[in-house]
Amino acid sequence: MTAIEAEQLTRSFRRRGKAVEAVRGIDLQVAEGEVFGFLGPNGAGKTTTVRMLATLLQPDSGRVRVAGCELPGQIRQACRLIGYVGQAGGADDGMPVLDNLILQARLNGLGRAEARREADRALAAVGLPDVADRLPRTLSGGQRRRVALALGLVHRPRVLFLDEPTWDWTRRPAPPCGGSFARCGSRAPPSS
Ligand SMILES: Nc1ncnc2c1ncn2[C@@H]1O[C@H](COP(=O)(O)OP(=O)(O)OP(=O)(O)O)[C@@H](O)[C@H]1O
Ligand SMILES: [Mg+2]
Repeated sequence: MTAIEAEQLTRSFRRRGKAVEAVRGIDLQVAEGEVFGFLGPNGAGKTTTVRMLATLLQPDSGRVRVAGCELPGQIRQACRLIGYVGQAGGADDGMPVLDNLILQARLNGLGRAEARREADRALAAVGLPDVADRLPRTLSGGQRRRVALALGLVHRPRVLFLDEPTWDWTRRPAPPCGGSFARCGSRAPPSS
């Protein structure tokens, strides 16, 4: 199955009364199990593109299909099949890490016991089993990035979006998931 399909995606923003073109006619196709990345200078439109693919931003024009769901028509189904790790993280600072993860799992439809189990699994997968009771704001930058990754993975999405995933990571200790996001365990393990 094709995990992501986009055709002629465009998006502009209004700034001081003028339209600023952020994304102009992007086409892409990503197969299930494929790790697909794109690079570009600051302001090139990477975050805007990822947000459109991940249901967070409506394109001005173009077509998106993700995890088998057409957007925006099947947005509710798509949300549960998508994990998103934003450039700025995403944890609620006033809530312990474990509660953040359980809430995220519950919002994505997991039952209470399963949410707890998957929260523990996600923390272990990103190499942070000991921070469950900590508030996110007390963690280091790299630890916060790992928690953000755990939040993206906790409901075992079929498609995981990562915006600037290696920001704040150092080589030691080992990168989250041993460097393989695929191994962190989506519902549809990739072939490689
Ligand atoms: N909410 C917004 N309102 C106005 N302009 C925006 C908004 N979001 C993004 N832009 C503009 O759209 C363009 C693309 O921004 P975007 O964040 O997608 O770039 P990026 O490639 O992710 O950059 P970076 O490498 O710095 O993260 C930039 O000119 C940015 O200023
Ligand atoms: Mg960006």
